[in-house]
Amino acid sequence: MATTFPDGFVWGTATAAYQIEGAVREDGRGESIWDRFCHTPGKIAGGDTGDVADDHYHRWQEDLHIMKELGLGAYRFSIAWPRVIPDGIGAVNPAGLDFYDRLVDALLAAGIEPYVTLYHWDLPQALQDKGGWPNRDSVGWFTDYAAVVSARLGDRVHYWITHNEPHVAAFEGYGTGRHAPGLCDPKAALQAAHHLLLSHGLAVPVLRENGDERTQVGITLNLTWVDAASDRPADVEAARRFDGAVNRLFLDALFKGAYPADFLAYTRDMAPRIESDDLLQISAPIDFLGVNYYSRSLIADDPKGGLLAARQVVPAYAELTEMGWEVYPEGLYKLLRRVHDDHRPRALYITENGCAVADRVVDGRVHDDRRIAYLREHLLQARRAIDEGVPLRGYFVWSLLDNFEWAFGYSKRFGLVYVDYSTQARILKDSARWYQQVATANAVP
Ligand code: FCB
Repeated sequence: MATTFPDGFVWGTATAAYQIEGAVREDGRGESIWDRFCHTPGKIAGGDTGDVADDHYHRWQEDLHIMKELGLGAYRFSIAWPRVIPDGIGAVNPAGLDFYDRLVDALLAAGIEPYVTLYHWDLPQALQDKGGWPNRDSVGWFTDYAAVVSARLGDRVHYWITHNEPHVAAFEGYGTGRHAPGLCDPKAALQAAHHLLLSHGLAVPVLRENGDERTQVGITLNLTWVDAASDRPADVEAARRFDGAVNRLFLDALFKGAYPADFLAYTRDMAPRIESDDLLQISAPIDFLGVNYYSRSLIADDPKGGLLAARQVVPAYAELTEMGWEVYPEGLYKLLRRVHDDHRPRALYITENGCAVADRVVDGRVHDDRRIAYLREHLLQARRAIDEGVPLRGYFVWSLLDNFEWAFGYSKRFGLVYVDYSTQARILKDSARWYQQVATANAVP
């Protein structure tokens, strides 16, 4: 028996510029913080870099052809800011805009709707040299960039995602230092989070202005279902702090125009500097919320656990992906319900969901049954939420292709399509064929 989805449900895949494009020094592209970070010894597993990645900059037509063959209706990709404005501000690089212009035209010709993310973590290094996201000027830098891109593409791109996972960009980039630019300064991380949100809010009217009545503007958050590791009051409190930093800091700001008071009180002298209208701007109404969901978070109190004094626990019985993340499909249902009940976004999209598997090519095929099971279980939980009235409109698998998985380099494979990095050959995994059936039938077999 198949589980069908509502008519018009959107089936897509997602990628991000730095993770797939390569060609980092071509056609006038400027340096990004990820170029700099990858070339800093010790930052990335195996010393990997995004210099070549999937060489998608040159192979995009082949990749688009695969999406078409799979019958996908949508493609979420991101624009590399340093390709479009090499120094982040000032002179625009026409060749950079041309690349995305061609991609958008070809997608539309193939009947694939582009969902464009403006910022998926590749800040121009020149702007990091001016302080990066903790500098309040970043708000203006981003809205100018959003204006440049949407002036060119806004007649054909109807779905805009301002930021991908501002929590990760801020906390991993400026707090833990696990991501570019690699700073370890919790106060800067909180200030960066505030500016990322503010830049989102100020970009919303810009994107609308450069579009038309079809234009839909949203933002993508990494949200998680949080449980306390035990019912000890210390663990319950730690789970609340974690939920405050990952979920509520962003959801409450965007939908209620207020930061969660308990979390702000906890951060005390590290709390961000906020000006009077900021939260009003941040909570500018949006058309949809993008949700990236991978796993739940089981949280224990840990005084040595950084800013949040918390640590993630993995239950002994849990099934784990290659990332070490617990497979917890029900968390997606619970999370969608919670977001809908608490915040009533007009529409929701799952803008990323997927898992890393230790894929192997055997006789030219990749039998990734675990990925199929993962996707299937999550889709059934998404369907459950739709049944209960959650306005979920679409689903994007992370990812179309195996790609550069940030600090893990090429060691983690998330694609529906296997990439042989020595030849750049693309091999459709069994999951790609399975997802083709889903997209074609609008149903989960
Ligand atoms: C998300 C990122 C995406 C990818 C997946 C696995 O946090 O948005 O780029 O790396 O995780």
